[in-house]
Order: sequence, then structure tokens, then C-alpha cells
Amino acid sequence: MIKFLDLHAQYLSIKSDIDDAIAKVIANSSFIGGPSVKEFEQAFAEYLGAEFCIGVANGTDAIEIALEALKLPAGSEVIIPGNTFIASSEAVTRSGLRVVFADVDPGNYTLTAETVRAKLTPHTSAIMAVHLYGHPCDMVALKEVADEHGLKILEDCAQAHGATCHGKIVGTLGDIATFSFYPGKNLGAYGDAGAIATGDVNLAKRARMIANHGRVAKYDHEFEGRNSRLDGLQAAILCAKLPNLPGWTERRIAVADRYLVELSDVEGIILPRRANWAKQVYHLFVIRTERRDELSKWLSDKGIETGVHYPIALPKLKAYDHLGQAKEALFVNQADETLLSLPIGEHMSDADVVTVAAAIKSFFG
Ligand SMILES: Cc1ncc(COP(=O)(O)O)c(C=O)c1O
Repeated sequence: MIKFLDLHAQYLSIKSDIDDAIAKVIANSSFIGGPSVKEFEQAFAEYLGAEFCIGVANGTDAIEIALEALKLPAGSEVIIPGNTFIASSEAVTRSGLRVVFADVDPGNYTLTAETVRAKLTPHTSAIMAVHLYGHPCDMVALKEVADEHGLKILEDCAQAHGATCHGKIVGTLGDIATFSFYPGKNLGAYGDAGAIATGDVNLAKRARMIANHGRVAKYDHEFEGRNSRLDGLQAAILCAKLPNLPGWTERRIAVADRYLVELSDVEGIILPRRANWAKQVYHLFVIRTERRDELSKWLSDKGIETGVHYPIALPKLKAYDHLGQAKEALFVNQADETLLSLPIGEHMSDADVVTVAAAIKSFFG
């Protein structure tokens, strides 16, 4: 059996650190706020080299709060890729803004300057750079477009903890950045958790206030915010896990590199192409094949788990019928039936990768 994700194995490898961290929070009863939240915010800011980090309840809230903190004009348009998880676009709509789906590079699945330019209108106010599958967007190119047109950039780093673009870590390359620590993410909590990072003191202050009822002090509320706090137990777990992230990331990259070698001459599949300026952290290793469903069943019958990210491109979802983008000749609208995510993670040995690759080769004969 080769699992898509093995959270239990990961827990066993750091069991005493996790158990101690949880026990400490319970012993202190520091469930909301408290030392573990502060410690994680500082440690994660340091990891990123970001000036400010604000812990929040999950990655979706992080995007909504970041958009609200940016104070974009009501009803203005945010350009986002058509092939991300709905959380990215949902947050735009819920913030009173308009979603505009753009296409992506077919090799690395992220927005490009050209695909963004194709969707610019006088109403565009921001670009959401989703570093999908752990591959960074080309932030230098996107920044050029943003600067030319006076747009803000929000980086959605939910799948890209530690990825770099032209040598610089994502989460520090736009106006504001958001992270998810959903359990299966490269850095995952044991429940929902998220964070916002920024180098702008005013954005940081506003985001922190929005996430905590708009308060400046207990019962002193400058405006109405919401409750979206990172809880103490999750923060302590994230603190215990963070020192392992670089090692886990290197292992993911090694697994991906081995896939790229083992699968290089298989006809019938298209491999992901990492840009030469990118360090991809392979939250997912996604191939394309016209025989996706057959291959996925073939692998499943051999005990190899796979996933599909995402089976319906966002413009084609019922939720976005009103945008009328489902029939646009976009790569994202055509690729969704061919995407297949192979198992990847630090739980995989080289032998596991060879087993998966051999199963794929035997499928294509
Ligand atoms: C690209 C992307 N953005 C946002 C999110 C939302 O994160 P969360 O599940 O923590 O709300 C996810 C998580 O699945 C994601 O993959």
C-alpha cells in the first residue's frame, strides 16, 4: 500500500515533541492566544523573513481577512487562476469583490504576466498569485504588471510553504500573503489553522484587528471584525513541527526529482515542468493523461493512492455559472479531465517512487 498522505507516520516520527507541546498548552490552559500563538507567529515570521505574521483560524479566513485589510474598492475585480481550490475565489466574492478567472502556464500551472494581462480591465484592483502545487508564480513578472496598473498582489501560499521564486521565499513577495495549515498541507496542524504575512505595518495591524473583533484592547473595538484566531493547541503543534519543515521539503523535492527521472520516457503522460527560477516544494506532484480515470483505477488496484486537484476547473463550477467563463478557450477549462496527483511526501521511500513509476509504466505497456 502506498498512501497519498501519511499523517500518522509523520506523527510517530515526532511523537514526543507533539505530545509535550499539547500537554504544555493544556497544563497552562492557554487555549486562546497565549505563549504558543506568539511563539509560532514569531517563528513563522522568522522562517519567512517576513516582518509580521498573524495567526488566524484557517487559510480561507486568511485570504478574506487579507483582502479586507487591503481595502480594495467594493465591487472591483480580483484576477485569480481558474485552477485553484474554491477557497481562493470564494474569499474574493465573500469580500464584496468580483472574481475574474485567468489562465495559467501549462507546465507549472501558475498565473503568468500574459494570462493576467489578458484579463485586465479598468476595474481590476488586485491579482491573487496562487502558488499552486507548491510551484511559485513568477512574482517578478506579476509585480511588473501590478506596478504598471496600480494593482495589489495577494500571495496564496496555502500549498507553497518554503517555495522560492528567483531565490526569494514566497509569502514575502507581494503586498500580503496567506497560508493554510490544514492537516495535509506541507506544514499542517491537527485541525484548521492559517496565517497572514506582510511587511506592511498598517496591513498587519488591520489584519490582526479584523481577526479579533476589530479590537485594540479587551472590549475596546474600533470597528466590527470577526473571530478568526489561531488556537493555542494548533499553534503549539505548529511550533513543534516547524523545525522539521526544511527536511520534509527536501524529501518531497527528492521524491519529485525521482519521479521526473523514472517517468521521463513514458509516452501518454505529461510531467510537471519546474521553471528554472523556481524552487517548487511539491505540495502535489501532478501529471496529465488522457486516460486519467483508467490509470487512477489501475494504481488503486495495486494499492497506490492518487488524487485529483481539481476535477472541475473553477470557471466550470455551478457556483460560477454567472461569470460565463466555462466555455472560454482556457487551458484550465480543458486540463481538468486529465490531471492526476501521484502520492508524494516525506513518508515515501525511493523504493515507493520506483513502485509507483513501475505501475504507471506497466499501465502504458
Ligand atoms: C490554494 C488554496 N488556497 C486556500 C486554501 C484554504 O485553506 P483552508 O483549508 O485552511 O481554509 C487551500 C486549502 O485547501 C488551498 O489549497
